Amino acid sequence: MSKNTILKPIKSFFDYVSFNLQYELMLLSYRGKNRKEVFNDIYYRNRWGGQESISGRGSTLKQTSVIIQKLPRLLEKLNAKIMLDAPCGDFYWLKEAQLNLEKYIGCDIVADLITTNQSSYGNEIREFINLDLATDPLPQVDLIFCRDCLVHLSFKDALAVIKNFKKSNSTYLLTTTYPGIIENKDIVTGDWRAIDLRLPPYNFPDVLEIIDEESTERKDYPQKSLGLWKLSDIDL
Ligand SMILES: C[S@@+](CC[C@H](N)C(=O)[O-])C[C@H]1O[C@@H](n2cnc3c(N)ncnc32)[C@H](O)[C@@H]1O
Repeated sequence: MSKNTILKPIKSFFDYVSFNLQYELMLLSYRGKNRKEVFNDIYYRNRWGGQESISGRGSTLKQTSVIIQKLPRLLEKLNAKIMLDAPCGDFYWLKEAQLNLEKYIGCDIVADLITTNQSSYGNEIREFINLDLATDPLPQVDLIFCRDCLVHLSFKDALAVIKNFKKSNSTYLLTTTYPGIIENKDIVTGDWRAIDLRLPPYNFPDVLEIIDEESTERKDYPQKSLGLWKLSDIDL
């Protein structure tokens, strides 16, 4: 056995321990931060490790190819003309979808993302707004598209966001859910875990439609999906 083959596993073991330690320290620091500080930290340090998109490995063109195809068809079917993309992140992959909308509004808590999106992609139809989905007034739209957001929020913050969606009097919510998760776990905002929105504390009714993203990002969560609900059917 060469020196290399002995050293390699030891080196990767230390890498593993060091990565986990850093991650735990990051989460500890998030306990003392507000939502804006947490997501600014993730953005400026590229904490999700995205090479293609700052929103991480779930937002590559490969991982979103199914949604790029299916979202326009769903909007057509629902006759949705005004959509709130909440949150939009860097708008990296959604710019590729042929959305036949009268108005697209993208929003995010990170102000610099919004400034960049507005100058790169803003036009008469597309507008980008800096806001906090948990607290700021939201426009009334036909469909709120909320991908890969509630999975990063504590129960308290996620429930505040959903209540705020309802308060906007918008019609539909299309959002990330993982059907078949055994139970929903609470986290500190800025961490991640899969959620099934039909389970407590969300208790959504059965979906009207579901889009399987056919995700290959994580082998342990192949069922990553977008569920469609009427906001008026969600009892919170
Ligand atoms: C993983 S990214 C997903 C972005 C996009 N939906 C996508 O599919 O690529 C999550 C985004 O949520 C934003 N975010 C988290 N909490 C938010 C809040 N309370 N209000 C607005 N944006 C928020 C973050 O800044 C980040 O850009």
